[in-house]
Amino acid sequence: MHHVLTADQFSRADLDRIMQRSTEMETIIKQGGSKICDGKILGALFYEPSTRTRLSFETAMLRLGGNVISESDVTFSSQSKGEVIEDTIRIVGGYSDVIAIRTKVKGEAKIAAHYSPVPVLNGGDGSGEHPTQSLLDLYTIVKHHKIGEEKLNVAFVGDLKYGRTVHSLAKILRNYDGVSLQFVAPEVIQMPDEYLNQGDAIHNTLSDEILQTADVIYDTRMQKERFEDIEQFNNVKNAFIFTRDMVSKMKPDATLMHPLPRVNEIMQRVDAMPQARYFEQALNGVPVRMSLIAEALEI
Ligand code: CP
Repeated sequence: MHHVLTADQFSRADLDRIMQRSTEMETIIKQGGSKICDGKILGALFYEPSTRTRLSFETAMLRLGGNVISESDVTFSSQSKGEVIEDTIRIVGGYSDVIAIRTKVKGEAKIAAHYSPVPVLNGGDGSGEHPTQSLLDLYTIVKHHKIGEEKLNVAFVGDLKYGRTVHSLAKILRNYDGVSLQFVAPEVIQMPDEYLNQGDAIHNTLSDEILQTADVIYDTRMQKERFEDIEQFNNVKNAFIFTRDMVSKMKPDATLMHPLPRVNEIMQRVDAMPQARYFEQALNGVPVRMSLIAEALEI
């Protein structure tokens, strides 16, 4: 089955195919959608808050002519009565043809896939991974940079310990020649060792040199809900706040990304700057998730 569970599962050939298919899906959207998923149902199980991931998965299925059943408030789910994910997934897998799931627990999407009779698409598992996000992140980078053909200097900034999007995107980018990765975070929320490679650069502060030389800066929110110690969160919550002054130091053709939601880490006055591409990035979630649904359903 075509589960999407971790960024590890993708080869360069897979990524090229998904990028190409996502471009075709953008054309389909512009033409008013398609009926290739007529009669198919997406089950959307979201046990953590989400705006972009759930709604872009749902939009993707609707744009493909399919239907959606959705569980988006855990208080109205039988999970709140103590049902285990293994049971929920068996049942919802019987109601639907493909499942998109977001869970609070790292690794739980893999457990869901083990028990599911239909493909499972991981929409974020706790502080683990967010592989479908990393594909729309890659799609955004591919649109603006010659990744794999020219050198690309990518700096990840913010909460790199709990920020699952950076875990998946770092893995994805390692499929491309010429990409160098830098990780910028206070020590307590620095990138975990399991996602680091020899040659990666580690910094605790965001210097002008990083701003001036990066081709892509990928900023992230401090994941307040995952800190065990609120004091630790308070100590780092304002570590990086992108202002117009800071972004104006970036190359004119560089890209400032963010998976969103943002809290205070990018000032709204940055939004109109040419480097700010995080809203475009979020919109790219629809064609990319259309291509993942189509692959999952072998269409
Ligand atoms: N990027 C992302 O996962 O956003 P949501 O939490 O709104 O789904």
